[in-house]
Amino acid sequence: MLDPIQVRKRAEEEIKRADNLQRLFEIKAKYLGKEGLITLALKGIKDIPQENRKEYGSQINTLKEVIENLLREKESELKEREISRKLSQDWVDMSIPLEPLVGTLHPLTQTLSKIKEIFVSMGFSIFEGPEIELEAYNFDLLNIPKEHPARDMQDTFYLNMDGYLLRTHTSPAQIRVMLSQKPPIQVIAPGKVYRRDDDPTHSPMFHQVEGLVVNEYANFRHMKYTIETFLRTFFEKEVPVRFRASYFPFTEPSAEVDIGCIICHGMGCRVCKGSGWLEVMGCGMVHPSVLENCQIDTDIYQGFAFGMGVERLSMLYFGIDNIRLFYENDLRFLRQFL
Ligand code: PHE
Repeated sequence: MLDPIQVRKRAEEEIKRADNLQRLFEIKAKYLGKEGLITLALKGIKDIPQENRKEYGSQINTLKEVIENLLREKESELKEREISRKLSQDWVDMSIPLEPLVGTLHPLTQTLSKIKEIFVSMGFSIFEGPEIELEAYNFDLLNIPKEHPARDMQDTFYLNMDGYLLRTHTSPAQIRVMLSQKPPIQVIAPGKVYRRDDDPTHSPMFHQVEGLVVNEYANFRHMKYTIETFLRTFFEKEVPVRFRASYFPFTEPSAEVDIGCIICHGMGCRVCKGSGWLEVMGCGMVHPSVLENCQIDTDIYQGFAFGMGVERLSMLYFGIDNIRLFYENDLRFLRQFL
């Protein structure tokens, strides 16, 4: 038999002194667990002499309730204390300045921003055309006839949707601008383009920036000045620039633009394949047929256009020798462009 008054006193004392949940659970087990004092006492009631049994039983049951209540109260008290302890420790100091470096811009993003900034400072606005393009805008209206090799299945990603493809260059943006704006026009059109090409210097997706100027007097010298000024601003030095006669169906005359090799300074190396020059863009006077396709009066207006490869410029500027590095997201590569 156990003395309910004694046990109650002891339990009260122990619960009062418990200062953590672990200790409280031990006390709970001691009294109410499978082998606990109260549990055993309840089991022993049947062995108590008949005349005392009722009285004793109700005392033990009351004691059990009292202890359960004390435990419950103490438990919520300890839990609350635990929460406010955590809250006071885990506080956030809103006045601490942020770590200055939470991320960096991808080198291609940096290059694109720089290109845009230079042209905007020269009075160009920015136009963006869609990557899924009409075959008519990518080819026909740009004076690229049906039999032209550029249309070859080898180069172009055609879509199942009839008349649509992934644009192979940003030049269809010229058409979209001229169909929707009246001259004077002075825009660049940056964006992704797609070709069936894959090797260390070609990727099936890459970026171009198109330029288009249409007004009453635009001429080849304006184009040459614009491109030279852009390249020297971009490379931050007086790089040699040369215009080499070339051919594009949508410009006439056309030229390809070379800069003196950034790597060997014209001495001839692996990157420039010994020539001392690197091709960086195509350009030319907008072909009259293209202007006419866009209902622009060729008796009044003329224009020039150019298109450059962003990866190419970025590789030359940063000295990157494999185009794939741009797309692999290897941190060892990306960390070099802080
Ligand atoms: N679209 C041409 C290309 O992708 C580049 C270009 C643009 C040439 C504008 C002339 C004028 O190669």
